[in-house]
Amino acid sequence: MSIDALFAPFHCGSLSLPNRTVMAPMTRGFSPNGIPGQNVADYYRKRAEGGVGLIISEGTIIDHPAGSDNSNYPSFFGEEALAGWKNVVDAVHAAGGKMMPQLWHLGAIRPPGKGPHPDLPSISPSGLGARDGSVLDPMSLEEIDEVVGIYAQGAFDAQRLGFDGVELHGAHSYLIDQFFWKETNHRDDQYAGSIAARTEFCVEIVRAIRQRCGEDFPLVLRWSQWKQQDYHARLVDNPDEMAEFLQPLSDAGVDIFHCSQRRFWEPEFEGSSLNLAGWTREITGKPTISVGSVGLDAEFISSMKGADAGVANIDDLLERMENDEFDLIAIGRALLANPDWVNKVRAGEFEQLKPFTQADKDELR
Ligand SMILES: Cc1cc2nc3c(=O)[nH]c(=O)nc-3n(C[C@H](O)[C@H](O)[C@H](O)COP(=O)(O)O)c2cc1C
Repeated sequence: MSIDALFAPFHCGSLSLPNRTVMAPMTRGFSPNGIPGQNVADYYRKRAEGGVGLIISEGTIIDHPAGSDNSNYPSFFGEEALAGWKNVVDAVHAAGGKMMPQLWHLGAIRPPGKGPHPDLPSISPSGLGARDGSVLDPMSLEEIDEVVGIYAQGAFDAQRLGFDGVELHGAHSYLIDQFFWKETNHRDDQYAGSIAARTEFCVEIVRAIRQRCGEDFPLVLRWSQWKQQDYHARLVDNPDEMAEFLQPLSDAGVDIFHCSQRRFWEPEFEGSSLNLAGWTREITGKPTISVGSVGLDAEFISSMKGADAGVANIDDLLERMENDEFDLIAIGRALLANPDWVNKVRAGEFEQLKPFTQADKDELR
């Protein structure tokens, strides 16, 4: 199969990429006290040198004291952490790469008593969604306003440091997704009810980012049907519901939707082979990123539980890209095992690609 579609340049507003590959965001615990050091810069620089078109950082915590459950996750606030990120983005740029930070708040997923501020309660739309099933206070309207402003500050700092855009982590049942999902959002105000109303928190964040950063700063929103408590959960069951969900977000100013699936080849709705990114592109007319087990024969949750993943061919991916189903493809574990995965694929050196083994997790913690 021709690899041309994977290596066509991509343009969206002020973002120009040399090819269609994206490094998927992957949490790492290598930033003591939230400060990303030279080792973090080296890790991303290696992937930029390996030919990746756009790097999305590991989830990086916004400036809210209950955002994180691990002091080794990087912060995206404070002079020292931001200086660390400046060093990272400069290293990626020097290697010819492009990079966006992924802004992250764990919401109710953060277990009580964990993280840099163990005494503070976790926050979430309705106090629901904790892994241990405990129920906390819902966020007040003042807290919602405050957190919206904190996300916007994170995006503003990303712009100031020279990043090529910013990604909001709105997937996998973390804070933003806790607003999207009806199981974790039982509020009785403007932030809940219909699927469109459940986007309101994120819509306000997107608008606030647009206000702080202007219209040209590329803004990506990652979303998923699946939740970490329930891999079969769905935010939307058909294209009409998907349109109700995505339209307010698109109108507010999301430039690119990053559609998280565990296996990119799985169709989203019956009667069509389009995947989540395919439908999202069809409905919004905006560019999309797909993801999920590219180049590997097992999905990532099994890898996290101890199974290795062998190398798989990318014919289906190439065919979908050739058909223009989605614009960009994110690659996770294959880039941990092969920092130069993109250059190897470009050179046709498929037999040199390595499988993802448990040893590759050394890159993560
Ligand atoms: C170790 C690890 C950490 C991850 N951390 C994040 C994260 O911080 N933010 C996020 O949106 N997704 C995260 N993911 C999901 C990945 O971005 C990606 O969607 C998933 O690994 C599927 O891609 P792959 O099959 O190519 O690995 C993580 C995945 C892995 C394996």
